[in-house]
Amino acid sequence: MTIQFSDNATTDRLRGEIAEVLTGARARTLALTDCLDDAELAAQHSRLMSPLVWDLAHIGNQEELWLIRDVGGRAAVRGDIDELYDAFKHARVARPELPLLDPAQARGYVGSVRDEVLDVLARTRLHGNPLVEGGFAFGMIAQHEQQHDETMLATHQLRTGPAVLAAPPPPAARVAVRGEVIVPAGEFVMGTSTDPWALDNERPAHPVHVPGFAIDAAPVTNGEYLAFIADGGYERPELWSPRGWRHRTEAGLVAPQFWERDGAGTWWRRAFGTPTPLRPRQPVVHVCFFEAEAYASWAGKRLPTEAEWEKAARFDPETETTRRYPWGDADPGTAQANLGQRHLEPADVGAYPAGASSAGVHQLIGDVWEWTSSGFEPYPGFRAFPYAEYSDVFFGGDYRVLRGGSFGTDPVACRGTFRNWDHPIRRQIFSGFRLARDLRAGEGR
Ligand SMILES: [Fe+2]
Repeated sequence: MTIQFSDNATTDRLRGEIAEVLTGARARTLALTDCLDDAELAAQHSRLMSPLVWDLAHIGNQEELWLIRDVGGRAAVRGDIDELYDAFKHARVARPELPLLDPAQARGYVGSVRDEVLDVLARTRLHGNPLVEGGFAFGMIAQHEQQHDETMLATHQLRTGPAVLAAPPPPAARVAVRGEVIVPAGEFVMGTSTDPWALDNERPAHPVHVPGFAIDAAPVTNGEYLAFIADGGYERPELWSPRGWRHRTEAGLVAPQFWERDGAGTWWRRAFGTPTPLRPRQPVVHVCFFEAEAYASWAGKRLPTEAEWEKAARFDPETETTRRYPWGDADPGTAQANLGQRHLEPADVGAYPAGASSAGVHQLIGDVWEWTSSGFEPYPGFRAFPYAEYSDVFFGGDYRVLRGGSFGTDPVACRGTFRNWDHPIRRQIFSGFRLARDLRAGEGR
């Protein structure tokens, strides 16, 4: 959201944009839940995930808490269910046993919450109070719903049974993309203090000096990853960190999640219930941090740090300014990035030349979340806002930061500054990676 406001007309335009964003999120939520019967909605498809009917009512409950009770100052719609849908009170594995709303009740609940929220929106002055300045709380709730929509998409990927989701294939490659881009040493401005819907962990903007580095122009592809497997990548402990090797052994990892090999030795990838032959130019997806790290070591490189990733994505060396996205400040369109569940898989490398950075780094936004080598830490000057449970309680934990969003991420919940984090063993998320390296003497001058 780039909109600024100064008068009533602008506030009305902002209200219209907010309503549109909320409606878009809800359409996605319903598309992900209306395609399954009640038994499947209530089932737990993986111990890592909630039943989809929990996500659905939790979306409504967060919306009620923040927008009806807090922003609107109104009475509770369902004050009796807060505890059931508090993500910190019940681990995902325990959620199927809770006395949850059934699918019809959950749909009715989220619908009545939304009706009231639109009324709150129409009556709220969108500035003068930090919680609603620029529509922030509404944007936070729209992003929350979109984040759960991506989580629910991951649940769909873990679900077994006949396919229920369909989408057109992503665009084909338009240009050849290979090699790496050198980013000379220097300072850039990381994070943001001005993006009205940026979340607390993206703030504040602050200067960071980044030593020179090289970063791959594209994410690592299935074809490249296959070469790592063929070269014994999963059998060579020297390529793995000690902790990564222990996990690889205990979990029995031999390939990315959802890859299967047929009797003829051909690799297939199962996506949302449909097996398809592996596409060699498609970015690899469903790898954990430890796999990414082992691949990097095999390739003689390393994962980028979070600051390197963001500098590659946002710093324009021509103007020496930091932009919102690799291509500039405009919101992502269909030509720039594979986002928003428009396609249910990553696009081949070279499919989004209009989304490349001015230095020629492609597909940083969309397609696959990219693992970085960095832990999840607050930026200097961080302030928890509006609640500590969004970011603050996760800082310093056993997480690695992922950047850039995936095909499952909505543009509303994806910016050049957006920070995602997860445990290094997780791979049910739409995670891939690209490689970086230090500069050699004489490079980057
Ligand atoms: Fe949530």
